[in-house]
Amino acid sequence: MAEKIKLPDGDVIICRCEEITKQEIVDAICEGYLTVNEIRKRTRSGMGFCQGKTCGRIVRQLIARYGGVEESTLTPAHARPPVRPIPSSAFEKGEDLL
Ligand code: FES
Repeated sequence: MAEKIKLPDGDVIICRCEEITKQEIVDAICEGYLTVNEIRKRTRSGMGFCQGKTCGRIVRQLIARYGGVEESTLTPAHARPPVRPIPSSAFEKGEDLL
């Protein structure tokens, strides 16, 4: 059986898409960023491919715990679909972009 690796609490990755640790999020909360969108803009957590579906709930819990904000008052961050670059030639040729 594999031995569990003990990581310092702050080194735990909360946002896997952007590799943001718990300590980075707690630091942002201590700086006064107390909404999910503010934490997102400060740390990039929630800006990854899943758009916060994985980390958003944990970020809200961290804000509640370390920021003293009632978790039920925190709204999820605005989801934005991932954007990928499209060459301008695709428009000229009328290619199907989907
Ligand atoms: S885990 Fe945070 S954006 Fe995907």
